[in-house]
Amino acid sequence: MRFKNVSRITGIFFVLVTLSILLLYVQPAIAAAPNLPNNSCADCHRKLLFSTEEQRQFIDIRIKHLENGISCSIVCHEDKLNKTTASTYALWSISTHALFDVTCEKCHGGNASAVSKQGAHVGLSNISIARTNTPETCGKCHQAELGEFKGSKHFMKLESGETGPAPACITCHQAHSVRVLTASEIEDFCRNCHNNITGIDPTVPAKAENALSSVGELRVEISKARSAINTAKAKKLDVTRAEVNLDSAMTILKDTPSVWHRFNLTFFDTEVQKGITEAQKATNATSNAQGTPAATKTPGFGAALFVLGLFVAYFLKRS
Ligand code: HEC
Ligand code: HEC
Ligand code: HEC
Ligand code: HEC
Ligand code: HEC
Repeated sequence: MRFKNVSRITGIFFVLVTLSILLLYVQPAIAAAPNLPNNSCADCHRKLLFSTEEQRQFIDIRIKHLENGISCSIVCHEDKLNKTTASTYALWSISTHALFDVTCEKCHGGNASAVSKQGAHVGLSNISIARTNTPETCGKCHQAELGEFKGSKHFMKLESGETGPAPACITCHQAHSVRVLTASEIEDFCRNCHNNITGIDPTVPAKAENALSSVGELRVEISKARSAINTAKAKKLDVTRAEVNLDSAMTILKDTPSVWHRFNLTFFDTEVQKGITEAQKATNATSNAQGTPAATKTPGFGAALFVLGLFVAYFLKRS
């Protein structure tokens, strides 16, 4: 009996020690591991970073240049480097797509469960990544944006097959970094095409900056309304009306990224202004709010527990 107890204590001790070791060593290792998807395309391309022949040559050239005090040609070599497969991986690995498991084969095709390069590259498609086809490729997941984009002059121009520039998804977002242009960047960017030299509506860049800035204004009005509602709630005022207004302002905000892709700036601005008005209505409604009638209050969890307690006491006494 005594012996059995000792072995049980040793057993428990052993389990505790093992657990502590696991906690000490394994957990930090898991936490430190890059939080990137497990995918053969990504796994192999990750290893190409600074290991391709072209990159080794680039580094050699760079060292020679540095040794000779020449630095001016580095930019052009870097341009070439940027075009390599490895830099593609580097851009993607810090993108929102990497975070959400949008791995290489989702756009390129190929076989992501094959380990060898030959096996994995079977079925790589140049068609899906062709610039003018990116609306369809990206639109598989971004249906709302594609839906709006199909109604835009940009899409019509792309589809018409006419020569002359028209932006596709990757013109504005880039294929691998999938960056989103901010209000302060937008004017310069749109001006690449929309200017007096090309004659493509040169009033667009300034209007676009205004339109995106008012989305910021909408956000501010929404957060004002939200805190006004919270304050009113704390005072036990009826905020039903204010919440209806706030909800419609939030729906408009949620839809702005997709509506944007119709590239009808007048329509976009009208929508955003509507949202701002709704949020302001919500804030105003809180100052006119009345106290909530006590009768409409629903019994809480505490009341339910109390009733349950009474039942239990009754049955215990009976048995
Ligand atoms: C075992 C390593 C390995 C795997 C797995 C791998 N690749 Fe590659 N990939 C390479 C190498 C190396 C290159 C550089 C060009 C070359 O050597 O063919 C490359 C080049 C590419 C290119 C550009 C050249 C081309 O042929 O168009 C694309 C696109 C590409 N890979 C996509 C993918 C996708 C998508 C997957 C997963 C379905 C994948 N790769 C899996 C090693 C790999
Ligand atoms: C969201 C879609 C998408 C994802 C995800 C994606 N790519 Fe691409 N990739 C593209 C598009 C579109 C192009 C064409 C870019 C252009 O024309 O400027 C491209 C171009 C390339 C190229 C240039 C060579 C060529 O065939 O033109 C390579 C290499 C490449 N991608 C590799 C990768 C690798 C490796 C991954 C994963 C780490 C990846 N891509 C993830 C869409 C994607
Ligand atoms: C397999 C599905 C899939 C494909 C294909 C895809 N995306 Fe995405 N994309 C996502 C997901 C998931 C997110 C992250 C969640 C979200 O914002 O909806 C995302 C996010 C984005 C964002 C927001 C990035 C940010 O930082 O807020 C942009 C821009 C974007 N994608 C553009 C593109 C473009 C351009 C293409 C085509 C070259 C593309 N996507 C193809 C699934 C996809
Ligand atoms: C002319 C430039 C341009 C083109 C073309 C374009 N976008 Fe956008 N996209 C933007 C801008 C600017 C925003 C930010 C809009 C906003 O903040 O309301 C955006 C926002 C987005 C978002 C949402 C990001 C977020 O923060 O939620 C996604 C996803 C997206 N675009 C995907 C696409 C897809 C897919 C296509 C092609 C069908 C496309 N875009 C074409 C400029 C463009
Ligand atoms: C690659 C070139 C290119 C870029 C970049 C570009 N556009 Fe355009 N845009 C065009 C073309 C081409 C048209 C069509 C002109 C026509 O057919 O009347 C157009 C038309 C428009 C229209 C309709 C104008 C009208 O008068 O009806 C709007 C709005 C617009 N673009 C917004 C933008 C915004 C906002 C940006 C920047 C985020 C942008 N564009 C970037 C080429 C471009």
